Amino acid sequence: MSRVAYVNGRFVPHGEAAVHIEDRGFQFADGVYEVWAVFGGALADAEGHFERLERSLGELSITPPMGRAALAVVLKETVRRNRVREGLVYLQVTRGVAPRDHAFPKPEVPASVISTAHSIDRALTEARAERGAAVITVPETRWARCDIKTVGLLPNVLAKQQARKAGAVEAWFVDELGLVTEGASSNAWIIDKSGALRTRDTQANILRGITRETLLKVMAREGLKLEERPFSLEEAKEAKEAFITGAGTLVLPIVSIDGRPVNGGEAGPVAKRLRRLYIEEARRTAI
Ligand SMILES: Cc1ncc(COP(=O)(O)O)c(C=O)c1O
Repeated sequence: MSRVAYVNGRFVPHGEAAVHIEDRGFQFADGVYEVWAVFGGALADAEGHFERLERSLGELSITPPMGRAALAVVLKETVRRNRVREGLVYLQVTRGVAPRDHAFPKPEVPASVISTAHSIDRALTEARAERGAAVITVPETRWARCDIKTVGLLPNVLAKQQARKAGAVEAWFVDELGLVTEGASSNAWIIDKSGALRTRDTQANILRGITRETLLKVMAREGLKLEERPFSLEEAKEAKEAFITGAGTLVLPIVSIDGRPVNGGEAGPVAKRLRRLYIEEARRTAI
């Protein structure tokens, strides 16, 4: 089946999809992105991702290329044309094409917008979630605006590559105080010794994960004990369970941290239950 991509107003064959060499996303990472999980051909946590996209654009003073309704049409059409029922849809918006100069183009140029989608084999990802996954840790080396979902992801790329080499799915960043900030492409959680669910608050320099947000609502509904406060690497290593959240991984149990087993090296029951509850909620509310 041939894939197609959306590029600045047109759907084109994926293999031919291209942006200009002076696109500021290419030259300066001057752009933002979003990723929606797709369930049954519909967008999960749609509004949360739109809100965060608008916020990211606002923080970079990039004029939104179109309104939410039009963007939703682009995303759904990308999903439909690629025949994705279960998968991911990606959107990137950059400040546009202009002669290379660090300062913003003057006058403003139209933002560049691209979107792609691909299918995910849920049977495979469910099997992986059953087994659980490993994380390694790396020093926090990123800039002070990790709340903006920019395409400037080099520290995340290097961290993820280190994880891959170690046979892990994710790398957790650890700050100078020994506290876990978040993963290279996910939020980090533990269930501490007291049984409380812990994840870092979003006042800190991390991305406000949309999967995290939905899961917080699910947890509140389930009456689970929750503490939005940082945890240290030491606490994580002693935790009853650990897991990560993100549009790509949903809720994924973590079974080892830097090679040290968590929950005896098995996916924890609470993390597995939260995965099921999140997926139910995301499927139910997908649009
Ligand atoms: C650095 C980082 N933190 C957290 C997340 C999780 O965010 P979301 O749940 O919105 O996918 C991501 C997702 O890509 C990420 O890149």
